[in-house]
Amino acid sequence: MNKQINTAFIKRKGILSKETDSFRLFDGVGDGIADLFIDVFAGHWLVSYLDEKPVDAIECELPRKSLWFKKLDKTEKESAQCEEGDPAIGRIKIKENNVKYLVDLEIGYSQGIFLDQRDNRLEVRARSSGIRVLNCFSYTCAFSLVAALGSAVSTTSIDLSNSYLQWGKRNFQLNGIDLDHDDHYFCRGDVFEWLRQFRKKDRMFGGIILDPPSFSRVGRRGVFSAEKDYSSLVSEAAHLIEQGGWILASCNHRGVSSEKFVNALTIGIDNARRNIKTIDRKPMASDFSGEEYLKSFWIEIE
Ligand SMILES: C[S@@+](CC[C@H](N)C(=O)[O-])C[C@H]1O[C@@H](n2cnc3c(N)ncnc32)[C@H](O)[C@@H]1O
Repeated sequence: MNKQINTAFIKRKGILSKETDSFRLFDGVGDGIADLFIDVFAGHWLVSYLDEKPVDAIECELPRKSLWFKKLDKTEKESAQCEEGDPAIGRIKIKENNVKYLVDLEIGYSQGIFLDQRDNRLEVRARSSGIRVLNCFSYTCAFSLVAALGSAVSTTSIDLSNSYLQWGKRNFQLNGIDLDHDDHYFCRGDVFEWLRQFRKKDRMFGGIILDPPSFSRVGRRGVFSAEKDYSSLVSEAAHLIEQGGWILASCNHRGVSSEKFVNALTIGIDNARRNIKTIDRKPMASDFSGEEYLKSFWIEIE
């Protein structure tokens, strides 16, 4: 196993730099062990596994500060356990393309950043200058943060969870963004409700990010399912896009193929009576060499 981990590290050495200290070191089937995943967060290793916890010592030539283990289980979402190093240092700062993010290895099932969206974050930053950016299902507001750093005129982050939005604000502050004076809005609640409100008030955006979970349970509307409801989601978003604006639509539901997803996107945009100028799939970041579960499409609207 350690030989495979070392080979995986050698392949990814180029990602580590002064600007980026976090990446996926080992990606399951892509690196030869189907149920083993290792993420590195600024020198702290998080080993995730599906069924059997690895029993052998995990080593490679990359040194580490601590070692954490997490069982991947969609129903029993337990926090990671520290097995080497100081468990009190679970809250850390990481760097990705020179942007700082707060990561928490200690509490909860998710750590505060999804490393598989690194390339999309870079692209959002490059496309945000001078426009208003809306980030739906924002979680800890990583996309909003890069939009702000990319000179967006304003950013609007929507999430059901107030604590994730607060985490997002701390991410902004960590990067020296003045939340008292700049135009950054943090909206708590259901994305569909907010999109309807924005439409009523004629609020328009130059860029919209849609990165929902596969399923979510929401108040009056019941359940959101990426498989069934993505068309109506993208349709609501398309109503709010300025001429020449863009939508980033991501879907990590394994049950939705790339073809099915593009179909849902084109139907949704058509239903909003908007035209697609270009639609391009962005491949997953190179350190995610295993299953291509994340489907990300960049759509330019006429
Ligand atoms: C997969 S995460 C999004 C990751 C995020 N886009 C990023 O790149 O960091 C899903 C987020 O959607 C939020 N969420 C789920 N259903 C929602 C809804 N109906 N309206 C608003 N937020 C929702 C959850 O609280 C969670 O923070």
